[in-house]
Amino acid sequence: MSEKLFIFDTTLRDGEQVPGCQLNTVEKIEVARALEALGVDIIEAGFPVSSPGDFNSVREISKAVSLPTICALTRAVKKDIDVAADALSLAKHKRIHTGIGVSTYHIYDKLKSNPEEILERAVEAVKYAKKYVEDVEFYAEDAGRADNEYLARVVEAVIKAGATVVNIPDTTGYCLPIDYGAKIKYLMDNVRGIENAIISTHCHNDLGMATANTLAGIMNGARQAEVTINGIGERAGNTSLEEVVMTLRCHKTINVDTDINSKLLISTSRMVSNLMNMPVQANKAIVGRNAFAHSSGIHQDGVLKNRENYEIIDPKDVGVDESVIALTARSGRAALSYRLGMLGFNLEGKELDEVYEKFLRLADQKKDVRDDDLLYLVGDTAVEKIPSKIKLKYLQILSGTLVPTATVILKMGDNERMATGTGNGPVDAAVTAIKTLINEKFLISEFLIQAMNKGSDDVGRVHVQMRQGERYAHGFSANTDVVRASVEAVIDALNKLNVTEKINK
Ligand code: KIV
Ligand code: ZN
Repeated sequence: MSEKLFIFDTTLRDGEQVPGCQLNTVEKIEVARALEALGVDIIEAGFPVSSPGDFNSVREISKAVSLPTICALTRAVKKDIDVAADALSLAKHKRIHTGIGVSTYHIYDKLKSNPEEILERAVEAVKYAKKYVEDVEFYAEDAGRADNEYLARVVEAVIKAGATVVNIPDTTGYCLPIDYGAKIKYLMDNVRGIENAIISTHCHNDLGMATANTLAGIMNGARQAEVTINGIGERAGNTSLEEVVMTLRCHKTINVDTDINSKLLISTSRMVSNLMNMPVQANKAIVGRNAFAHSSGIHQDGVLKNRENYEIIDPKDVGVDESVIALTARSGRAALSYRLGMLGFNLEGKELDEVYEKFLRLADQKKDVRDDDLLYLVGDTAVEKIPSKIKLKYLQILSGTLVPTATVILKMGDNERMATGTGNGPVDAAVTAIKTLINEKFLISEFLIQAMNKGSDDVGRVHVQMRQGERYAHGFSANTDVVRASVEAVIDALNKLNVTEKINK
């Protein structure tokens, strides 16, 4: 039986500090509910003394979620602790996270103090927070660059004062994994009473080592990890939740695991990315768009023979339906034959060779070869099977306090077809209308609207993933009218699936 690692999510505090990522209270509640569903143990909901907005968010999140502990950040200052306790008053499980800088930089340059005074202030803050809540976490800011002997004295003193969790932040992301691991081991070996508290990691990613440092901390005895969704946070960010969770799942020999429902990782990642207007880099581990996409011929051939040849995680375990075989100039015959098979063309031998040669010529000119290109390549007889393109001719939406209703006219080949539909919103209404005009059943398996910049005049970029039986297609569009962009993205995907017009409509 593996030991439990507590997941302390600070997306709404350290993550939300990033310029441009600020959320309003309603959005923070939405994220907090997603984190609760994901299975995090502690949600750091904000820094209540910093602004009335932060105070209000901590209060509202305390009411909205009940399973995780709600945590509020403070400095080692009585007023901060009073305000945090007030903001947390309605939380079912609550924690105050107080602390002070312990490196020489922080002690002398930032706080204009000395080590003994800092130690006293640390103990005083913990004792003061204990008057309000049982669960008090102490952070030793810039512990990554602090002297281990002094750090151990501080940790011992705050545990004695009642701290239930002690956080050892690598605030500046300076540590090497070997040093951060050794720091945690030093504390585990030298602090009297360490068994009375949980040691927590809190690593920043300035040198790209946040996850490695967190793992080193866990392997040396830390049993809480402070993380954010997509690794967002100050400067280069914090440790990413998904990386720690999946590393522990992949490396069972560490014998430490979390209660995270990994199947919700992708949806949570996308939600945070959208709300915070912070795109996830395509090659981001676990949640990036390319994390399960294979483009080189050798890899595609290997994955088609056995997924595990080139994948250490089953995409389904993190909420991705399946790996992507992207057709590029580096793809081989195996990938082409696989994709043609999905389109209903089972070519072999010479026939496949001929199409492959044409495919390579096309792939040299295009970044991404799509299904409609392939249908063209398979030859004249097959071309006849390509249905005519669907175009949006007309779209009218009635929305607001009424039942959202859409009227759509699609140009399908030589015909123009009109339909109306209702739905739970304007996009849903338009999709309902479109469905009545299409022969094949389709399902929207992913729908993402992202603002390009800011402001009500901004362009919305829409990405749709659509499923028709075993086949998938992606549709894109961008427009200042997000409903129109959504409908165009749906039509783009339908064209890639080569759907046909419903007869008698
Ligand atoms: O990085 C850090 O040191 C912090 C503390 C406030 C916990 O975010
Ligand atoms: Zn931090």
